[in-house]
Amino acid sequence: MSNQKNREIRLKSRPVGMPAPENFELVETAVPTAGPGQVLIRNSYMSVDPYMRGRMVDRESYTPPFQVGEALSGGAVGQVVQSNNPNFKVGDYVGSFGGWREWYVSGGMDLNKIDPSLAPIQAYLGALGMPGLTAWAGLLKVGELKDGERVFVSAASGAVGAIVCQIAKNKGCYVVGSAGSDDKCEWLKKVARCDEVINYKTCGDLTAAVRKAFPQGIDVYFENVGGDHLDAALANMRANGRIPVCGMIAQYNATELPPGPKNIISVIPLRLTIKGFIVSDYMNQTPQFLTDMAKWAKEGKMAWHETITDGIENAPSAFIGLFKGSNFGKALVRVGPDKAV
Ligand SMILES: NC(=O)c1ccc[n+]([C@@H]2O[C@H](COP(=O)([O-])OP(=O)(O)OC[C@H]3O[C@@H](n4cnc5c(N)ncnc54)[C@H](OP(=O)(O)O)[C@@H]3O)[C@@H](O)[C@H]2O)c1
Repeated sequence: MSNQKNREIRLKSRPVGMPAPENFELVETAVPTAGPGQVLIRNSYMSVDPYMRGRMVDRESYTPPFQVGEALSGGAVGQVVQSNNPNFKVGDYVGSFGGWREWYVSGGMDLNKIDPSLAPIQAYLGALGMPGLTAWAGLLKVGELKDGERVFVSAASGAVGAIVCQIAKNKGCYVVGSAGSDDKCEWLKKVARCDEVINYKTCGDLTAAVRKAFPQGIDVYFENVGGDHLDAALANMRANGRIPVCGMIAQYNATELPPGPKNIISVIPLRLTIKGFIVSDYMNQTPQFLTDMAKWAKEGKMAWHETITDGIENAPSAFIGLFKGSNFGKALVRVGPDKAV
């Protein structure tokens, strides 16, 4: 390792509006070594996620903001290459929060062992990881989905949305997904088994398109986008409908608060429940989530798509691409070999 270098991405400046490559800096450092009780990990994949945009703003939230001049962090998977910790041996595959860098040293408390024999290791950053748990908890626990209901999903081909669509189908629901390209819509129909799809970029009036797809209304709207999507859903909800609010990506880069939602008054006569949630509140339900996912995967009822960008130097553009729909399914960056030892 002595002649190898670590590369990491630091936040150079806080983005205003859409993030730009200039907000990030690629920095070369020495490969760290594992101290007493520590392990050294060679990262294989790192995750780029929409929530990271919120951490680039200097404000209090459910996670602390990234600091300018410091390396970013986020989900990653890799292999232990050096261990002074009895709980981990060289060769173990682990998930961590040490992304946006090629090598990562940990005391072990933040690591979770992953099993490469069950699924490709990067799946633990997507369908079998945080986005998958978000879909499962958001739909079943927050949205309180009942078998056979009518479900609308925005950003439906994304890391979270695609899993939401399939869980709902596995529960016998009528499912409509919206996405921003014909390719994504085709995948949603053919692979994720959506009953109907809406390309929100070409459908014209979104509220009318949603009404056409839901002549009897929506029981659960899984909210990933906000803005026009929330307005269109609110205009088409059924009585006692639920809206688990997972994300509102359409406004993450807004420089001022947008107006609306204009159809909010419908919560009263329809007795709607709109509930935000954060996936970390459901981490203790990971075993049940993984049991369900394993069962569905075995039955051929759970598929996912990935967009893998090569090289840590391209992580900023992979991240920016989330806000332009450049990713199809889980957005990942390959930052090292799948097998390091
Ligand atoms: N609450 C939680 O704990 C939690 C956890 C994870 C994720 N989330 C949220 O869940 C949502 C989905 O996350 P993800 O990881 O699955 O991301 P993703 O869907 O894989 O990627 C983002 C996608 O959003 C769509 N999008 C971007 N800007 C849009 C806009 N202005 N209008 C409509 N669609 C837009 C794009 O797809 P199109 O081509 O379809 O436009 C893009 O590919 C995000 O809002 C995220 O913040 C929340």
